[in-house]
Amino acid sequence: VDQQLVLKDEIKALLKARNAVLVAHYYTDPEIQALAEETGGCVSDSLEMARFGKAHQADTLIVAGVRFMGETSKILSPEKTVLMPTLEAECSLDLGCPADEFTAFCDSHPDHTVVVYANTSAAVKARADWVVTSSIALEIVEHLDSEGHKIIWAPDRHLGAYIEKQTGAKMLRWQAACIVHDEFRAKALKELKAQNPDAAVLVHPESPASVIELADAVGSTSQLIKAAQTLPQQKLIVATDRGIFYKMQQACPDKEMVEAPTGGNGATCRSCAHCPWMAMNGLVAIRDALRDGGKTHEIQVDEETRIKAMIPLERMLNFAA
Ligand code: 13P
Ligand code: SF4
Repeated sequence: VDQQLVLKDEIKALLKARNAVLVAHYYTDPEIQALAEETGGCVSDSLEMARFGKAHQADTLIVAGVRFMGETSKILSPEKTVLMPTLEAECSLDLGCPADEFTAFCDSHPDHTVVVYANTSAAVKARADWVVTSSIALEIVEHLDSEGHKIIWAPDRHLGAYIEKQTGAKMLRWQAACIVHDEFRAKALKELKAQNPDAAVLVHPESPASVIELADAVGSTSQLIKAAQTLPQQKLIVATDRGIFYKMQQACPDKEMVEAPTGGNGATCRSCAHCPWMAMNGLVAIRDALRDGGKTHEIQVDEETRIKAMIPLERMLNFAA
């Protein structure tokens, strides 16, 4: 018997039994995205994942992504049980912005409005005035800048630099990076572009500025999928996690897609265009989470932190609405 089929059937039965829904990020592996679609869940970017989970009538959300996505779901839906295939699926941006250091930094600039990327811990969100995802960051910073706010930005240094460049806002910026996007290389990308003069280049703004400069479209995962559809080019060079190809190929089946070059080969590259934490979301782990729940799978956010973190998150959702 096909082990994958058995697992999928088990997961489907557990989803029904628990009145649970599977919410997956575009960077999870194709079989996870397919299962989320097949079972009435959703596959999306981090903003839509938060929205979908909050609006859904399920008792349990199973979030296939990384920890901050599960935490965001729990913050917005405290009445729901939020499970993750593994609580060890971290994010280098979250890890690169410890709450105590960040709080001290904010405290030393009390006249600043604190804007944090969704890729942060609940405790960091609790210290923020605004949370943003990559699909809404530009609009929110532009809005705050036009109102004259002094801004602290954390934690992604490349996204921060990109936002500054696009909006003209000057921000105090934290300097963490995504280990996946930080690996894309401008020099090699230029060469690939030269070999493929008819191709369009699509870049997630967590990439270095030199890579963003070469882009025909820059945006969040969902914005890049849209750009893939609307750009006239038949060939696309894509600088983001390769998990995105599943949906991108579905959205434009006739186009040819290639990965943008990363810094090294398997031996030297830390991530090689696939997030090692996203890759932890396998079928076995999903089955185990739904079957066993408990300490190793259930997201908990203490109530004081949750209430504080909910304010900047709701602010973002209301701004986006
Ligand atoms: P998106 O909000 O664009 O989906 O990005 C989330 C993420 O983790 C990118 O690395
Ligand atoms: Fe974090 Fe980068 Fe992985 Fe996204 S791809 S979850 S930003 S480490």
